[in-house]
Amino acid sequence: MKKVILTGERPTGPLHIGHYFGSLINRVKLQNEYETFIMSADMQALTDNFENPKKIQDNVFETILDNLAVGIDPKKSTLFIQSQIPELTELFNYYLNLVTVSRLERNPTIKTEIAQKGFEESVPAGFLCYPVSQTADITAFKAEVVPVGDDQLPILEQANEIVRRFNRIYKTDCLKECQAYLSNVTRLVGTDGNAKMSKSLGNTIYIKDTPDVIKQKVMSMYTDPNHIKVEDPGKVEGNTVFTYLDIFDTNKNELGELKNQYKKGGLGDVKLKRRLVDLIIAKLEPFQKVRNEYSNNMDEVYKIVKIGNEKARNIASQTLKEVREAIGLNYFDK
Ligand code: TRP
Repeated sequence: MKKVILTGERPTGPLHIGHYFGSLINRVKLQNEYETFIMSADMQALTDNFENPKKIQDNVFETILDNLAVGIDPKKSTLFIQSQIPELTELFNYYLNLVTVSRLERNPTIKTEIAQKGFEESVPAGFLCYPVSQTADITAFKAEVVPVGDDQLPILEQANEIVRRFNRIYKTDCLKECQAYLSNVTRLVGTDGNAKMSKSLGNTIYIKDTPDVIKQKVMSMYTDPNHIKVEDPGKVEGNTVFTYLDIFDTNKNELGELKNQYKKGGLGDVKLKRRLVDLIIAKLEPFQKVRNEYSNNMDEVYKIVKIGNEKARNIASQTLKEVREAIGLNYFDK
């Protein structure tokens, strides 16, 4: 039997090239070797957007289209929506007993997100507990491998703690521990050089961005602030345009020469940026072609997801049955 992968994202906005290099690239590759499940985590997205459900509703199919665009093949991968699998919520409920509030408060990912979102004292309980809900997602499918960005590592660690506790307390081995699968570009910097590319920082390049938008975003990218005139020597390290070229430019010889020239002086930012614009457009063009084909045929997309939901529910309900038995809640079918 093939090993199982579960991955997904919160549908809070269209996916960007940071998502692509951080985790989508891996799931596209891994879908050939693993039984792959890709979940739109709409319930998780609600934990900090409960007052704005329209935002989530608008982005569920946008992110599914982005997945299809980059090469997720519905014949190989199962695409589904978290809220359509009620079994996940019941698992979540049992797991909540196996974790303390203080452990959740110490989770580094949650801590960072609480600070970023400015929740301070008013953290919604649902948000604080989303690692437990994510544990339900992962264990429902007995996923052994979870391709995510490195910001998710503390969540997976906490999931494994819950799995071990469950198996120990209820004397079972029905839950499986999982392992992260990281990409070699775990975090693509934003177009402004900020360590994180994110919609809220306005420093993203979306998978669906048109050539004009890409051009405008790249042209306003930061380089070396001391590289003012073309003939000035410039810095390559920490220069966002070079960071991107390292990822997008497959002609490493030419890129090496450009770096030398830049360091010596005599190479202008505009020339470099034009090169990057062309490379990004060329990379995204085939994705956008596929995306347009699907978005012009949404009935097909709905069908793919409905079939995915059904398959996901079947599997999750099997795990739920085992979990209920392990706890001893199978009163009538012993
Ligand atoms: N937490 C992930 C995100 O931030 C989304 C997610 C929810 C997820 N459940 C998951 C990822 C299970 C991997 C496995 O976008």
